Amino acid sequence: MVKGIGVDILEIGRMKRSLDRFGDRMLNRLFTDHEITYCKGKYDSYQHLAARFAAKEAFSKAVATGLRGTFGWKDIEVVNDSLGRPGFRLHGPIAEQMNASSLFLSLSHSESHVVAMVILEEGT
Ligand SMILES: CC(C)(COP(=O)(O)OP(=O)(O)OC[C@H]1O[C@@H](n2cnc3c(N)ncnc32)[C@H](O)[C@@H]1OP(=O)(O)O)[C@@H](O)C(=O)NCCC(=O)NCCS
Repeated sequence: MVKGIGVDILEIGRMKRSLDRFGDRMLNRLFTDHEITYCKGKYDSYQHLAARFAAKEAFSKAVATGLRGTFGWKDIEVVNDSLGRPGFRLHGPIAEQMNASSLFLSLSHSESHVVAMVILEEGT
């Protein structure tokens, strides 16, 4: 059964402007090494970084108030399987509270925007 749903849309240019302004400090605060390596290996890294940021926002909408305590940006890591399908890997206290296999993520990019959708299934 579906327990939560979250969606987020983000302008890629906004992400680029922030990252260009605040540099590696912001990059490393928001994204794990794995996420950065994945995005930097792509033609337009900002598009993929923006998608991951949107995924983290969509995640927080899907779980809403169902969590105790807080979680950081890097506790919610986006990973792609061998087919390219995205999902989450959780770290820190949140990893003890929920099972990443109960979370489903879909991402899409256009030239200007990214969208992320998260579904949380019962059983977390
Ligand atoms: C997966 C696919 C549909 C992506 O569509 P697209 O219009 O090119 O790109 P979008 O911007 O909408 O989506 C890109 C995102 O799709 C996701 N994605 C990639 N492969 C995926 C897969 N196998 N399953 C689910 N999602 C996938 C990724 O999250 C990717 O973003 P990321 O690299 O930042 O993580 C496309 O690459 C494709 O068709 N791949 C081949 C799969 C296939 O066999 N298709 C034929 C079946 S009809």
